[in-house]
Amino acid sequence: MLTTLRPKVSAIIGHDKKSNTEKMQAICELLKENVPYYNWVGFYFKNGDKDELKLGPYAGAPTDHTIIPFGKGICGQVAVSNQNFVVPDVQAQDNYIACSITVKAEIVVPLFLNGENIGQIDIDSNTPDPFSEEDERFLEYVNREVAKIL
Ligand code: SME
Repeated sequence: MLTTLRPKVSAIIGHDKKSNTEKMQAICELLKENVPYYNWVGFYFKNGDKDELKLGPYAGAPTDHTIIPFGKGICGQVAVSNQNFVVPDVQAQDNYIACSITVKAEIVVPLFLNGENIGQIDIDSNTPDPFSEEDERFLEYVNREVAKIL
């Protein structure tokens, strides 16, 4: 399933009439609509020269967490660790920012531009422990594609 989405992600990136924001929005919607256990899909980016993340395009319920300081929550930890963070059970995490009580699991994968961690893709799932290495490889691919237009 994820493999068949790769060419669709690349086609969105290569679209010549959409803005970068529209392309990232379309990718969020593509992923949310086609992967049953992706219930919220969004991009966060470093907010200028501040040590905080700012919410970018997303698909799913609106969140209050439009700004996340580095180090806070799963997202803020990935901003400083530069590593994928797979959370099979969000309730087992101390440093976690809840967006919705329906969320059971989360995956955050950093987005690199010229080797620098400039943001991330964040997926929330209402299914417990749904993520595998296939999701990590797929989301790394998505982020490499997005980095091409940034
Ligand atoms: N759960 C995240 C906050 C962002 S929401 O999932 C959209 C975290 O702990 O960083």
